[in-house]
Amino acid sequence: MSTFRLPPNSRVRRDGKVYKAASDARKVRTFRIYRFDPDSGENPRLDTYEVDMGACGPMVLDALIKIKNEVDSTLTFRRSCREGICGSCAMNIDGLNTLACTKACDDIKGDVAIYPLPHMPVVKDLVPDLTQFYAQYAAVKPWLQTRTPAPPDRERLQSKAEQEKIDRPSACILCACCSTSCPSYWWNSDRYLGPAALLSAYRWIVDSRDEATGERLDELEDPFRLYRCHTIMNCTEACPKDLNPAKTIAEIKKLLAERQH
Ligand code: SF4
Ligand code: SF4
Ligand code: FES
Repeated sequence: MSTFRLPPNSRVRRDGKVYKAASDARKVRTFRIYRFDPDSGENPRLDTYEVDMGACGPMVLDALIKIKNEVDSTLTFRRSCREGICGSCAMNIDGLNTLACTKACDDIKGDVAIYPLPHMPVVKDLVPDLTQFYAQYAAVKPWLQTRTPAPPDRERLQSKAEQEKIDRPSACILCACCSTSCPSYWWNSDRYLGPAALLSAYRWIVDSRDEATGERLDELEDPFRLYRCHTIMNCTEACPKDLNPAKTIAEIKKLLAERQH
């Protein structure tokens, strides 16, 4: 059931630690970062870090890495590729879900506020628990399902037009920026699959080589799994890869409507 108030132990204290920049810093930016350590028994807090941008790379992830390396090694966050490819550095920066490695500090006015992706349990600091998110991805069976044997002498081929249908949805990096920006997902994440999983479902539904299209659509024909999407569009706004999960969800609804006629 939906809960509309934060439990008391989730409220964020504003009186966290403050780490000042060195007196000879040339270009100081202030980062206010959500900190939570489940082992401490304490409420989350906002810590303040002053960073000398004159000695730091341009992206928010560069600042986080500098803080972790030089100021406070306890700061915890995920990252891997630093190229917008792996999706692991997704977080809420300046009020928007995005990738820390592709978000330039210069694109943010004033202090830089950094929180974990919203409405997810927090493992530690900026690391959300994505267990349910990945389970929902697995639930749409994101792999090719066939009934007929493969041709003996070649792969299952596609025309250029068929490939183009799956080209964009295949570019999803599973960062979760979309699902965690979706109000329907916030309130019903136990039953609504959310835009990322639905985008993946669409990618296999429209794959010309897949032979489980009917079963895939059957699985989605449900008041919660698909139809909790109310076309609010936050997901499309949030996607750092410029995909359009809201449009693909609308396409799935259209395919379901068409097969009833
Ligand atoms: S369009 Fe649908 S999936 Fe996207 S944010 Fe809105 S309700 Fe969520
Ligand atoms: S659709 Fe976009 S925002 Fe959503 S998980 Fe994929 S890449 Fe991330
Ligand atoms: S570190 Fe891989 S997407 Fe940011």
